[in-house]
Amino acid sequence: MRFLITGGAGFIGRWVVKRLIEEGHHVDVIDNLSNSSRANLAEFEGTECLKNFVVGDVCSKEAVGKLFDNNPDVCIHLAAQINVQESINNPEKSFSVNVEGTRNILEAARKNGTKVAVVSTCMVYDTGTAMTETSRLNPRSPYAESKLHAEKLALGYWKKYQLPVTILRPFNTYGPFQRSDAEGGVVSIFVKNSIRNEPINIFGSGEQTRDLLYVEDCASFILEAALSGDAVGEVINAGTGREVSINQLAEMIANGPVKHVNHPHPESEITRLVCDYSKARSLLGWQPKTSLEDGIKKLRAWMLSHS
Ligand SMILES: NC(=O)c1ccc[n+]([C@@H]2O[C@H](COP(=O)([O-])OP(=O)(O)OC[C@H]3O[C@@H](n4cnc5c(N)ncnc54)[C@H](O)[C@@H]3O)[C@@H](O)[C@H]2O)c1
Repeated sequence: MRFLITGGAGFIGRWVVKRLIEEGHHVDVIDNLSNSSRANLAEFEGTECLKNFVVGDVCSKEAVGKLFDNNPDVCIHLAAQINVQESINNPEKSFSVNVEGTRNILEAARKNGTKVAVVSTCMVYDTGTAMTETSRLNPRSPYAESKLHAEKLALGYWKKYQLPVTILRPFNTYGPFQRSDAEGGVVSIFVKNSIRNEPINIFGSGEQTRDLLYVEDCASFILEAALSGDAVGEVINAGTGREVSINQLAEMIANGPVKHVNHPHPESEITRLVCDYSKARSLLGWQPKTSLEDGIKKLRAWMLSHS
């Protein structure tokens, strides 16, 4: 099959592209490299399966239209402005990329009859545990708000035009290739600091909890959902069901001092966030395979081999 992956050079995108190429599918990628690097796809460039790697913007109708001219069977839409602080500083940009960009993809898909898997986020939920897809929503940042808008837009294309779309809500994802600088994910930052024997800084009390999903499990979830006829028109969560506080995470990873620092955006923090993934299990037969302990080990080994 032919796949178009937006944001394919990003952290999760790179793992989705890897799986597709290993399975012999043909892949086109569009990514403007605003939060990633060409190096993330270097091992696949020049291979028979990576057909086009376009450095371009999903907000450009022209760039998106050209890729849809290749008649992809499925588009996996990952490209987004993902940084919460940046979305607070510049909400217009988040809405432009995350909503307008999604609209461009949906419109091109509609003209072409391409199935679209829209990768949304658990950040659309209100605080809580065992969140099902019908749990209360309460986006607390322009990032989360814009992702929810993109979901609604996509479901509108399903209802109005029967465009086959699926909405995916992975919980916080971590693993190799995630950024570990200030813009990165919490697990990557903690592991990098522990490797360098640098202090680990926790935003706020550290009692906030997360459900941490290893990136290869996230990539299989995305692919299984994107290929499933039963998932069309559905919203589906993916996580592990395990609740870990940031303090506990720091304890698992740290080998130096742990400090509590002021939270840069407490109003956007979700206190508890834990996934109920029973819908993914019953609809797709998907479940996570990697424990948090094993995922951290894999990430540490990867960082050590890349430092
Ligand atoms: N990482 C997580 O914990 C997590 C959890 C749930 C959902 N998600 C969602 O998964 C998707 C991928 O997230 P990620 O963590 O891999 O982030 P990422 O930033 O690594 O990937 C996003 C990619 O999109 C690209 N991009 C940004 N703006 C673009 C634009 N205008 N045009 C083209 N490309 C653009 C970036 O350069 C980047 O490569 C996002 O939609 C995000 O909302 C991520």
